[in-house]
Amino acid sequence: MTALTVPTMSLVLLVGTSGSGKSTFAAQHFGRFETLSSDFFRGLVSNDEDDQAATPAAFEALKHVAAQRLRAGLLTVVDATNVQAEARRDFVQLAREHDVLPVAIVLDVPESVCIARNAARTGRDFGPEVIRRQQGQLRRGLKALGKEGFRRVHVLHGEDEIAAATIVREP
Ligand code: CTP
Ligand code: MG
Repeated sequence: MTALTVPTMSLVLLVGTSGSGKSTFAAQHFGRFETLSSDFFRGLVSNDEDDQAATPAAFEALKHVAAQRLRAGLLTVVDATNVQAEARRDFVQLAREHDVLPVAIVLDVPESVCIARNAARTGRDFGPEVIRRQQGQLRRGLKALGKEGFRRVHVLHGEDEIAAATIVREP
């Protein structure tokens, strides 16, 4: 068991390629309303979770809801790939504006596993090249997370470490 400490007053970013298991992890460790998923928000604004053209509107709405939750003092988890520094920057900023700690939980899963999982899913027709690109972005970003302002960075390597992780909330 690896205990990942997460301050109660925090904005948690899950970071990982498509198929790395972010949504699965979120469902296991966080409450129903604590997790804001970019897929779900794409669905809310376009009726289609897979409509990539809806991404800007989805993130605008997601950030708005995240801000409301942080204002209410509620721990909030962002379930999106978050593999790009630009995507993370806004959330670090949002956390700062609300005096909560930005935390990153990285799911570092081999490319081959993510590709195989996505191939078995309906509605996720990302080819291997998309996963490879995301994996490259993830690798390049890993060392920079602290410098970007994340106050805790938990990196889980591989399926076993992910399965063994527990979340410990700290007041
Ligand atoms: N999965 C699995 N074993 C795990 C975790 C996930 O078999 N330990 C499966 C899920 O059931 C799902 C697929 O792998 O069919 C992708 O998992 P998901 O949690 O949806 O991955 P995400 O990282 O959320 O992918 P995306 O960014 O595309 O939403
Ligand atoms: Mg998901």
